Amino acid sequence: MDNRAIGVYDSGFGGLSVWRELRRLLPDESLTYLGDGKNCPYGGRPKEDIARFAQEAVERLVAEGVKLVVVGCNTATTAAVELLRERWSQMPIVGLEPAVKPACLESKTRRIAVLATEHSLRSDMFLATASRYASDVEVLKVVGDGFVELVERGAERSAEAMEAVRRVVGPLLEQRIDKIVLGCTHYPFLRPLIEEVVAGQGIDVIDSGEAVARRVKWLLERYDIVAEVGHRADYRFLSFADEHYRQRLMCRALSMIECDK
Ligand code: DGL
Repeated sequence: MDNRAIGVYDSGFGGLSVWRELRRLLPDESLTYLGDGKNCPYGGRPKEDIARFAQEAVERLVAEGVKLVVVGCNTATTAAVELLRERWSQMPIVGLEPAVKPACLESKTRRIAVLATEHSLRSDMFLATASRYASDVEVLKVVGDGFVELVERGAERSAEAMEAVRRVVGPLLEQRIDKIVLGCTHYPFLRPLIEEVVAGQGIDVIDSGEAVARRVKWLLERYDIVAEVGHRADYRFLSFADEHYRQRLMCRALSMIECDK
């Protein structure tokens, strides 16, 4: 039994989409969320910078005494997960990867689209996953231009967000795809709008949140670090940005708890 918290890290608000799935699946586990905020968005930055931010974040979470870290950010995972695992080799570190595998296995049209940040789409890790599972599937790579910024501003239900989603997703309707993979943890916040744009077109929208939560559950059991049954979970929020940003993270998370009731 181990009642220490699980650490979850993202460039900003995006990892809350993973946080939510962790909370749903593992209600006894305390969660310490670190949303960088100061350096967000990561998507267009050089790998070295992202790797540095990721190390600073994990250092901070380790100083807070977490037992496992979820890098709730596809971009930071592609830039740094190997490095993080080398440096903190005693602690399980879970990364986020776009759900390319299930999308490829289930695609009937053999054409899928992956929406992600510029950095993730050109990373070695993405290229390796895509070539492993997608040899006979055409993978269209699409950057969700402006999506991260909209979510960071809390504007994911605005007319502006709908316009951005139509601009990015609209052209995909002509492409005979039947899956859209959300390869950035900010994008699930725009899922209702994405689903509205693809409605009636036989296109499924897939993200990795639930699968990651299941993987964390498996690792907790394997490392024998599961929290006690009935343990009262504590939810903490940290940021490298200012107190206002941290409060916004916390409010967003609390509103997710309300929605899940
Ligand atoms: N949420 C992040 C991801 O999953 C990164 C967004 C960003 O900072 O560009 O890729």
